[in-house]
Amino acid sequence: MKDNKSAYNSGVYDKNIVSTLPYYREYHNQIIDLMRAVNKTSIDWLDTGCGTGTLAARVFEERDDVRFTLCDPSEQMLGVAKEKLQGRGIRFVNMPSQELTYDAEFDIVTAVQSHHYLTPDERRKALGNCFRALRSGGILVVFENIKMTTDESDKIALKRWENFLSDHLGDPEVVKMHIDRRGVEVHPITIEEHVKLLHEVGFRSADILWTSYLQAGFWAVKP
Ligand SMILES: C[S@@+](CC[C@H](N)C(=O)[O-])C[C@H]1O[C@@H](n2cnc3c(N)ncnc32)[C@H](O)[C@@H]1O
Repeated sequence: MKDNKSAYNSGVYDKNIVSTLPYYREYHNQIIDLMRAVNKTSIDWLDTGCGTGTLAARVFEERDDVRFTLCDPSEQMLGVAKEKLQGRGIRFVNMPSQELTYDAEFDIVTAVQSHHYLTPDERRKALGNCFRALRSGGILVVFENIKMTTDESDKIALKRWENFLSDHLGDPEVVKMHIDRRGVEVHPITIEEHVKLLHEVGFRSADILWTSYLQAGFWAVKP
């Protein structure tokens, strides 16, 4: 029985995720680099779908002027995050993004690989809640699974990820498990659809931060 919606249980998530998502650590590096350019100190930061708290831990390697609120619907994932981030004064909240009610409380909101499980309506609600949670001038960063713009290109991109999984995980059954989740447990949308959705929930800007394989990062500034 799984203890969260990702492919891995909380206790083995950190060990396996780097072999499953190409450049996983790079997502966090890109977010930190973006925040460096914002040049703001004393930041209120919401990470929704925080999982095991790896992003926050990585941020603390660089700076200690951040007040984190970490949300996740999985108590077990939050449990690992709490252990990893003891003594950091973090607020932990057991809640999915589509139920958040924060209003203009944060300078940055991040959601890394945590909304692709949602139905279109839930995803819109989740992003709308992220928008509301930001102060004016605040930044949302979302990393998500993507699909290509045509079936032909999607097939090639999927094969490319399958090759990565075979190289890093080996076991063909495990590789198949990951491939079979796509479109069933995880629902990727195109880069264009991501950008459109960010505009629809209220962001004026919505840009690509980084992309490779079947993942992309987006950033948007609240007017
Ligand atoms: C692939 S993990 C990503 C965790 C973390 N953000 C990271 O980068 O390692 C997906 C996480 O999203 C969480 N999740 C699932 N449904 C969610 C929702 N509706 N809102 C927010 N998080 C959700 C899961 O519990 C899990 O911790």
